[in-house]
Amino acid sequence: MLGLVLLAMVSMATGEDVLNMCMDAKHHKVHPGPEGDLYQQCAPWKNNACCMANTTSEAHNDQSYLYNFNWNHCGMMTDKCKKHFIQDTCFYECSPNLGPWIQKVDQSWRRERILYVPLCKEDCSAWWEDCKDDYTCKENWHKGWDWSTGINRCPANTHCQKFSDVFPTAQSLCEKIWSDSYKYTTHIRGSGRCLQMWFEYGKNPNPEVAQYYAIQMGLVGKASSLGRPAALLLLTVVLSLLFS
Ligand SMILES: *[C@@H]1O[C@H](CO)[C@@H](O)[C@H](O)[C@H]1NC(C)=O
Repeated sequence: MLGLVLLAMVSMATGEDVLNMCMDAKHHKVHPGPEGDLYQQCAPWKNNACCMANTTSEAHNDQSYLYNFNWNHCGMMTDKCKKHFIQDTCFYECSPNLGPWIQKVDQSWRRERILYVPLCKEDCSAWWEDCKDDYTCKENWHKGWDWSTGINRCPANTHCQKFSDVFPTAQSLCEKIWSDSYKYTTHIRGSGRCLQMWFEYGKNPNPEVAQYYAIQMGLVGKASSLGRPAALLLLTVVLSLLFS
């Protein structure tokens, strides 16, 4: 019994829990931690990140070697649209707050994915607004591409259309493009009920949101909301009592 309590407290104290973790995917670190050199749009995650600096600089390149994925499969994607895809990549690669939405998956290139991460309305709407006049040939960008040349090309039975024809709404874009990795919400930025893809350095609002949903989902007890400092203190007290 005491052993179990100790174990629970040690894991809380070290923070290796659903509220601070990295998924087991292609480029993620094993554990989150500070990364001083994160590049440009990924820089807001410097304090605590699942990505390495080289992943973040590569994430800003067209057809980066991260996934060999070509944004420009229907002509050049505009910069105003592309910045949202870069942000999406930063969020996916760097965020240590996606634990409650991580699922096992049977794919050759990763063992875990995210499912139904609740995005703030404005982040999703801005993504759609800035991309609606760009072109694409597919609704689901995860699968169905022609990879015969090593980079994704539009498959034979498709043609390039405006984003707004492929994705009639912001919701359809955010949910369908990465096969339900994201869930559109009507919650607004700062509400504590949705995750933000965009935030300023030092002001990551997502840990509290993840904690809220983890409690709702029964993934952590309310006790975990005591947080790491409290767990460390408790651990110290218990240990000193034990060995005094
Ligand atoms: C980044 O660098 C590390 C080691 O320094 C390497 O293992 C990893 O594959 C690199 N990642 C990318 C995306 O280049």
